[in-house]
Amino acid sequence: MTDIKELLLSRIRDVADYPEPGVMFKDITPLLADPAAFTALTDALAEIAENAGATKIVGLEARGFILGAPVAVRAGLGFIPVRKAGKLPGATLGQAYDLEYGSAEIEVHAEDLVTGDRVLIVDDVLATGGTAEASVQLIRRAGAEVAGLAVLMELGFLGGRTRLEPALSGAPLEALLTV
Ligand code: PRP
Ligand code: MG
Repeated sequence: MTDIKELLLSRIRDVADYPEPGVMFKDITPLLADPAAFTALTDALAEIAENAGATKIVGLEARGFILGAPVAVRAGLGFIPVRKAGKLPGATLGQAYDLEYGSAEIEVHAEDLVTGDRVLIVDDVLATGGTAEASVQLIRRAGAEVAGLAVLMELGFLGGRTRLEPALSGAPLEALLTV
């Protein structure tokens, strides 16, 4: 494992049985509180944005905001929030997606993404891939191109990559850590 991967992994805390019994929650707050680790993470994600030729960063509420905003600043790109439904005041595009129980919806300001934009989606975790897949659909419906998806960590056993790769149509899915 490289030094940066070891550093990032060492700052992620496993919390057993949260938010419900049987789930091992990956808590990134120790990483965020460590400026060396947070800077290393931001730099690594910004490099992915540059390599992907991204022109905008989309962050997925809420933890994708924390990671995506500094990446946008570091890469010199605009940051576009994809929010949970009902939080954006302007004209929005929405995309519903299924959860284990029930469904959810995410939204983006329609004017924030236009034809010609190449978007890197940033989030903390790829689990089942449902949130990321909905964001890919949303970005395409807005007329923009998906340049890739970058996450701090992928929970490989949940199969999100298998679900997402067809939706990404060849755009890269970069996970700094696979756990
Ligand atoms: C978590 C995580 C990812 C998503 C991954 O977000 O931050 O965004 O779940 O799950 P999936 O791949 O199965 O869709 P969540 O909405 O639970 O919480 P947050 O608002 O703290 O980011
Ligand atoms: Mg999230």
